[in-house]
Amino acid sequence: MATLEALKARDKAARPPYQPYGAALKLMTCRNREVLLSGPSGTGKSMGCLQKIDLAASQTPIRAAIVRKLRTALTQAAMVTFSEKVLPAPPNAIWFHHEDQEYRYPNGSKVVVAGLDDPRKVLSTDFDLIYVQEATEVEEQDWQILLTRLRNNALSYQQLLADCNPSYPNHWLKVRCDNGLTTMLESYHEDNPALYDHAKQVWTPFGREYLKTLDSLTGYLHKRLRQGQWVAAEGMFFPEWDPEQHLVEPFEIPDDWPRWISVDYGFAVPFCALWFARDPETRVVYVYRELYGPGLRDEQQADLIKTRNEDDRILQLTVDPSMFNSRTEQKRPSIAQVYADRGLARLTQQGIFPGQNNRKQGWAIVRRALAHDENPPRVRFLKGLCPNLERELPALVRDPLDPEDTQQQSKSKEVSDHACDALRYGLATEALPPPPQAVRAIFG
Ligand SMILES: Nc1ncnc2c1ncn2[C@@H]1O[C@H](COP(=O)(O)OP(=O)(O)OP(=O)(O)O)[C@@H](O)[C@H]1O
Ligand SMILES: [Mg+2]
Repeated sequence: MATLEALKARDKAARPPYQPYGAALKLMTCRNREVLLSGPSGTGKSMGCLQKIDLAASQTPIRAAIVRKLRTALTQAAMVTFSEKVLPAPPNAIWFHHEDQEYRYPNGSKVVVAGLDDPRKVLSTDFDLIYVQEATEVEEQDWQILLTRLRNNALSYQQLLADCNPSYPNHWLKVRCDNGLTTMLESYHEDNPALYDHAKQVWTPFGREYLKTLDSLTGYLHKRLRQGQWVAAEGMFFPEWDPEQHLVEPFEIPDDWPRWISVDYGFAVPFCALWFARDPETRVVYVYRELYGPGLRDEQQADLIKTRNEDDRILQLTVDPSMFNSRTEQKRPSIAQVYADRGLARLTQQGIFPGQNNRKQGWAIVRRALAHDENPPRVRFLKGLCPNLERELPALVRDPLDPEDTQQQSKSKEVSDHACDALRYGLATEALPPPPQAVRAIFG
């Protein structure tokens, strides 16, 4: 024990000095269940969160987690800051156990590192503190699930602490803060002593350089990363998007409501299927289920749709029109035919139809359905049940060369729009019934 005490004392002495300011200081004493440090780039948000985790872990034997959407991003960001700027310099008594992906403290505390791309590690354990880095990247459902893991009770309070740069104003995390569920602490550049000299009350030379770089940003990035404001991205394709209006708590959909499914095809990129139901009285369309993922062969997609559909009575299946293309050269039936042969034609009452081919007309239909300036929107999404659609819709950006369409490539990267394409096919199905001969073509 004496050795442990000594080690602890040595660790403490060997830690780089840390003095929190502003939001980071408030974080140290905040015991609210959900707390978010929001602010522009480089204000010391992540440092504050990591320091709190380390402080708590070195004082009491707790279980904590450092979580991000993607595990790989933690290696480049949080873990570097944690090892190099928070923990004592090596050799120290805190070591990273690679197999279990956790920092182990001499007092028994464990700090797990995990990505939500492989959530088993966080989901299988209980924690006292969970730090979500760049929390705007994660879905609200992930956040809610993480909250259920806060029950280790080794610490007198249990907390989900998070940081982020601001995103668009209706982001679920901002809405959660506005509704008082999450406490938002606003962090400023002056909070970071590497940028601002508190004794002299002037920017440090490094701070002046850093702010100059941020000042060279333009538009919404300047507002978000320099000023810390929650503003919409320029060219956001659906400024109509508002989670308060468009997301509803999941409910049991009555059996007699008309239902249909739409599919956007993909193999190397994700394929996406969405389930729709329409309230016969209000005519509001609800998207109530989603399948999404890359690397699935045509047959596997069809089988998955069948399994996930359970016993829902489906009127029709509207698919990406390219799925009707013949593949005679490859001596293979069209993908739509594979779907039909695999039992999806029988699953529907009316058959499989090609979706609306015209992108712009399709987007206009989606826009009208999302609009809520005078009346409530015609389309709603069951919260958490179509997470990729929830993520993609607000992220779609206008094509600068064709403002009626979305940008499909951004800085040579494919834009993720598969769930939006499925939404477009699905809503256009309702607006423009396809010609009946399409049914026979697929049954033939
Ligand atoms: N209180 C502090 N004392 C000394 N240095 C600090 C302090 N806070 C932050 N820093 C320094 O500033 C750097 C940037 O801080 P941090 O990574 O926490 O910023 P951030 O707000 O999370 O930035 P981003 O918005 O880019 O994620 C840290 O790596 C650290 O070197
Ligand atoms: Mg950070």
